[in-house]
Amino acid sequence: TKPSLETTHYVKTHFKNLGLETHTVPFKTLLSYPLRASVSLHFDNGTVINLPLNEIGISSYAPSGLVQPYHAYSPSGTTQGDAVFVNNGTEDDYRALEVMGVNVSGCIVIVKKGGSLSRGAAVQIAEKKGALGVLMYAEGDVSRGSFGFGVERGTVMRGVGDPLTPGWAGVEDGERLELEDNKILDRFPGIPSLPLPFESAQVILESLGGPEAPQKWRDSSRSKLSRVGPGQVMVNFTYQGEKKLATIHDVFAVIRGSVERDRYVLLGNHRDAWTYGAVDPNSGTAALLDIARRYALLMRKGWNPRRTIIFCSWDAEEFGMIGSTEWVEQNLVNLGAKAVAYLNVDCAVQGPGFFAGATPQLDDLIFEVTKKVKDPDSDVATIYDKWTTMNRISYVRRHGVHLSKC
Ligand SMILES: *[C@@H]1O[C@H](CO)[C@@H](O)[C@H](O)[C@H]1NC(C)=O
Ligand SMILES: *[C@@H]1O[C@H](CO)[C@@H](O)[C@H](O)[C@H]1NC(C)=O
Ligand SMILES: *[C@@H]1O[C@H](CO)[C@@H](O)[C@H](O)[C@H]1NC(C)=O
Ligand SMILES: *[C@@H]1O[C@H](CO)[C@@H](O)[C@H](O)[C@H]1NC(C)=O
Repeated sequence: TKPSLETTHYVKTHFKNLGLETHTVPFKTLLSYPLRASVSLHFDNGTVINLPLNEIGISSYAPSGLVQPYHAYSPSGTTQGDAVFVNNGTEDDYRALEVMGVNVSGCIVIVKKGGSLSRGAAVQIAEKKGALGVLMYAEGDVSRGSFGFGVERGTVMRGVGDPLTPGWAGVEDGERLELEDNKILDRFPGIPSLPLPFESAQVILESLGGPEAPQKWRDSSRSKLSRVGPGQVMVNFTYQGEKKLATIHDVFAVIRGSVERDRYVLLGNHRDAWTYGAVDPNSGTAALLDIARRYALLMRKGWNPRRTIIFCSWDAEEFGMIGSTEWVEQNLVNLGAKAVAYLNVDCAVQGPGFFAGATPQLDDLIFEVTKKVKDPDSDVATIYDKWTTMNRISYVRRHGVHLSKC
């Protein structure tokens, strides 16, 4: 898209203005875009409701000019069936439904997105169980500053990289598979799916007949959920999309190492976003660009890194890590011999406070570092102080007890 090309130019110009060796690498890859979608509810009493499918009309934050919510690489189609709520959409959840006597074969399933299951995996399981379509909604993670205003766009392709060039780089005029090739079809779901706004999902969930939802499902849900379906309401769901070849651009800046030129340390982040991308990926890109700026400042004072540092700004990550995968496929032998480490950012800044997730081996390092960094919102406290305070508060909120020590 045009805004996406503008970010390519922005990042390239930033690196160039720092005096860094900069280059752009294009690939031609299969992307997926929505044309139109509709979801209507048909109640037993004859009432028909068309559900809103985007942010407009749902929240006062409603932005305009955004791509309509969709699942990239969902097949096109029109399906009709009873709606059934399948909780997180895991195998366990379908087993629980079976115990209740609910068979989702021939139904449209409503999946709560979140937790361990990827979007593609949730659709794959639903397809295996005989569902005709999948409607997915997110409840938002309040603890991370997300309140569920947004509708989560995302990919449902399986695996990573350009589907037409599996294992080799998708260069202009290069060899690629045909769209009808079975190898490609294996990577896409066989049933259509669509993300729903939380509010629209609520309208369906509140209307469901059938057996009562398990207590565990109700307790863990923000939704006004009482029954899982099927019954009382039919869903008519249409999605039309198109897959097309599009040129994507990875941008690189290189600082040659002074001692080990043939050892690469790669720092990277993707640059493409479903919408504005304030958090994902721009907060990470801001960090990446500023690391480059600081290295450039140090270089002006005569500093040089021991090993070669490569800054990587990837395109088409949201579709299935396509930009980074194609570049690695193009440089497999070189990277295999020379790459020492790859450090990735994505969402660097999100919501209030500090949180970290890591292998336990990094615990001490993270404690040490956060003790050295000042909390930007305070004159005296460190990030470590703020982090431990926040953890105490949320622990007390969750468990209703006070900790004397952290
Ligand atoms: C039909 O049922 C729906 C859902 O229960 C309800 O909102 C609507 O008011 C009903 N319409 C009529 C005409 O009874
Ligand atoms: C669900 O229904 C389908 C179609 O009627 C049937 O083939 C399938 O065996 C059923 N599944 C279970 C677990 O009963
Ligand atoms: C799935 O739903 C259950 C409720 O049954 C919830 O407690 C759990 O956290 C969810 N699991 C995942 C992986 O999201
Ligand atoms: C389902 O929706 C499609 C697309 O909006 C429409 O063409 C079709 O007539 C609808 N089917 C029913 C039974 O309402």
